[in-house]
Amino acid sequence: TWTMLNIVEDSIEAVRRQVGDGRAICALSGGVDSAVAAAIVQRAIGDRLTCVFVDHGLLRKGEAEQVERDFVAATGVKLRVVDASDRFLKALEGVTDPEEKRKIIGREFIRVFEDEQRAIMADGPVDFLVQGTLYPDVVESGGGTGTANIKSHHNVGGLPEDLRFTLVEPLRSLFKDEVRRAGEELGLPAAMVWRQPFPGPGLAIRIVGEVTGERLAILREADAIAREELSRAGLDRQIWQCPVVLLADVRSVGVQGDGRTYGHPIVLRPVTSEDAMTADWARVPYDVLSRISTRITNEVREVNRVVLDVTSKPPGTIEWE
Ligand code: XMP
Repeated sequence: TWTMLNIVEDSIEAVRRQVGDGRAICALSGGVDSAVAAAIVQRAIGDRLTCVFVDHGLLRKGEAEQVERDFVAATGVKLRVVDASDRFLKALEGVTDPEEKRKIIGREFIRVFEDEQRAIMADGPVDFLVQGTLYPDVVESGGGTGTANIKSHHNVGGLPEDLRFTLVEPLRSLFKDEVRRAGEELGLPAAMVWRQPFPGPGLAIRIVGEVTGERLAILREADAIAREELSRAGLDRQIWQCPVVLLADVRSVGVQGDGRTYGHPIVLRPVTSEDAMTADWARVPYDVLSRISTRITNEVREVNRVVLDVTSKPPGTIEWE
């Protein structure tokens, strides 16, 4: 729209003024906020922005490609990709506690990012760090003490608090829906612009139990099927998000093909919500659930059972971990 175009142009201009002829770096997560922030800064200062995408190997099917290929094609952003999946898997070995997983992922992320930062700074000084902070984040971090904790939680996949950098936050005055419209205005891939919330620690907190490469592969396939069928049914906008969870340490008996199986259950957790603080389980039509279940058990050999989570939040959180 016309107003969104103005907002985007004003914010490009503001970044240009702030950064002057300096250089900036930005970490891309695959999410809409960092993508839109990066696209705005790219328009403002071009190649003086370097984006870094740390692929922790915990994203869903196709999401790394969305960043590396589609986002770069749409924006012309200068991007460094680090495939750090082995490193993250190694660090997560034997870990089952949800908060421990988050801590490890956050820590590894910072280490990898700092290495990249050093490499980028070898070509000259960098003074600015781009972050996709939204207006509600600004308000929230000005609030009570409890929020600091929630934020540290949510900033996994975010960044070190590094005082050497001046922050560039082009989305500071925007709400989520405005960020999405800005993303459309900037020509970003629709799959990124309209992506539902997805946690920074990614699939690691959707595997109840230890995270392994094999388990990630199972979950990635099951998740892709669920997303595809929910989209095909036109439910993307009605559902806030739908975690797909692998109960990796649970086995149940099934019959698949010629014989008895002893496989893992997949949990579908579709929810409706306004702000993720509270949520209700989404009344997804039975035939859609049925298609998802049939396809997952047919196409993902290791899964022999699909169950639906019918718990509201509270008492259940949206994620299982
Ligand atoms: P819960 O599970 O607490 O989730 O009801 C509320 C919202 O936050 C997301 N979430 C996270 N996002 N890092 C994130 O960036 C995290 O560690 C994390 N844990 C939960 C969750 O997907 C939901 O949208």
